[in-house]
Amino acid sequence: QSPVTKTQSTSTAAIEIDNPASVRKQLANLFDVSLRATVPDEPDAVPLVDACAVKGGVKFGDYQCNNAMGIWSKIKGKQTGFRGPPAIGQAIINNLPPSEMIDSCSVAGPGFVNVVLSKKWIAQSLQRMLADGIDKWAPRLPVKRAMVDFSSPNIAKEMHVGHLRSTIIGDTLARMLEFSRVECIIRRNHVGDWGTQFGMLIAYLFEMFPNPEDVSEAAIGDLQTFYKASKVRFDSDPEFKLRAQQAVIQLQSGEAKYRQAWQQICDVSRAEFDRVYQRLGVRLEEMGESFYNPYIPGVLEKLDNLGLIEDSDGARVIFVEGVNIPLIAVKRDGGYNYFSTDLASLWYRLNEEKLEWIVYVTDIGQQQHFDMLFKAFRRAGWLPRDETAFPKCTHIGFGLVLGEDGKRFRSRSSEVVRLVDLLDEAKRRCKTAILERDTAKDWSEEEIEKTSEAIGYGAVKYADLKINRLTNYTFNFDQMLNDKGNTAVYLLYAHARICSIIRKSGKDIEEVKRNGKIVLDHEDERALGLHLLQFPEVFEEACTNLLPNLLCEYLYNLAEIFTKKFYSNCQVVGSPEETSRLLLCEATAIVMRKCFFLLGIVPVYKL
Ligand code: ARG
Repeated sequence: QSPVTKTQSTSTAAIEIDNPASVRKQLANLFDVSLRATVPDEPDAVPLVDACAVKGGVKFGDYQCNNAMGIWSKIKGKQTGFRGPPAIGQAIINNLPPSEMIDSCSVAGPGFVNVVLSKKWIAQSLQRMLADGIDKWAPRLPVKRAMVDFSSPNIAKEMHVGHLRSTIIGDTLARMLEFSRVECIIRRNHVGDWGTQFGMLIAYLFEMFPNPEDVSEAAIGDLQTFYKASKVRFDSDPEFKLRAQQAVIQLQSGEAKYRQAWQQICDVSRAEFDRVYQRLGVRLEEMGESFYNPYIPGVLEKLDNLGLIEDSDGARVIFVEGVNIPLIAVKRDGGYNYFSTDLASLWYRLNEEKLEWIVYVTDIGQQQHFDMLFKAFRRAGWLPRDETAFPKCTHIGFGLVLGEDGKRFRSRSSEVVRLVDLLDEAKRRCKTAILERDTAKDWSEEEIEKTSEAIGYGAVKYADLKINRLTNYTFNFDQMLNDKGNTAVYLLYAHARICSIIRKSGKDIEEVKRNGKIVLDHEDERALGLHLLQFPEVFEEACTNLLPNLLCEYLYNLAEIFTKKFYSNCQVVGSPEETSRLLLCEATAIVMRKCFFLLGIVPVYKL
């Protein structure tokens, strides 16, 4: 049996998380004591403890300690008395301090130490969680102030599925940090509300609505169409082009009439974005690119004083380690760009907002942009050389959303997909499915609305989050709305089923929690109990690597173990073990709801 393969750490330089509820950590502490006694001359040996994987349908233990082989290769040849890794494994077992956690240990294969946990200890740990609440299982990150920069669409350009991914992933990451007791988390919407396109838009706005009072969301209509129409004017009419170019200058110099037009355009965009956020239940604090504009000259001056800024063909650039093209801080025409703004915004975030950890969520296409930005800050001495040290910046990239044709996802008629329409479509399909069920007649209008929203939006989120964010995924309504398989629909109904089991028992679950006791005599009860107890360590791993898909995988396995093992083989209501099994149902529902919460999915309670 080989050691469990660990998830590949992504570019995220992992951070140390204090996670006392983790079974793995608790075992590691015991093994640490044992290693000190077993090989006192190897003070660097760190306990390597992992959950056991199922191999060919069998599991040799719950956890394993994999130190013996490594230690052997270091000490063989020395006079230690050990004759091989299995003997070291046995010594590691003998030197373990007594603990209620462990039922038995054994050495297997070339020297793996397999641990079987005590079912009594598993039961007690679960009961403690039921009594104290699942938030006691939260780890602690060594950060007080963090920011997730996510969603960040561009005004008047399209808010596309890429922004949907950023919104969904970013919201989950913020929720994960929140659960990890980071005191202050800023959920920043770095909207693209500045740039030369505004000249064109403003000139067109003046042309369409000579009277500013006539401007409204309804009058402007779809901003994308508005953008395209203005672009056509810009490209075809030199006189219009000139007005557009002048409009940019007027806007930048703060001319009231131009500021107002800019504001009006931003407001229309914002209303459209908000409709998406409102459906997704995502909260964001907007501070767009325009905000940082006044800070750009000062930050560039500081960088210049540090000798970082060079002249290249009239542009002002910064060279960074390991990249042969420079970062363009000021364009040849003297104008600012995306980089100029990000230099100023990162400076602001570190110095004014005093953030210790800033997480940027965008498609992987922007990886180089952020790599160069962070490197420039390291060169300036504004970020530590050591990438694991704080303050710290992390770029969280994600892959493309593809359509059935394998190309970038687009809707039938237009080149882009309006996100509001997409979400409404998911909801509509769920509603149809609910109305087709026999139980539909027992549901109120409001229940049907709320449930179709929870499932529809939940399905879109889950389909995105369950895939490792670095890979592309294919957007497919039929797949994500299937009630069988790894979908939010399946999971939400599994949760509703558990709640209905508890309801049908007729017992007051709070009362059962106070007086009942968990017993894990059946192997499927034990398997469920152990999986529940592994939530803290799975969460830790998801958090360390900022990979929500690990949480999805855990949640899906939980639903499967509950449904296919526990619930199939262990009668709950009316059995002699009813009390204990109801508590297992409740614990499962609680952990599922925590996962839903972290994934931004609203739970469903009724089948
Ligand atoms: N507006 C950008 C885009 O749509 C994303 C901004 C990300 N955040 C940042 N600070 N650059 O691609």
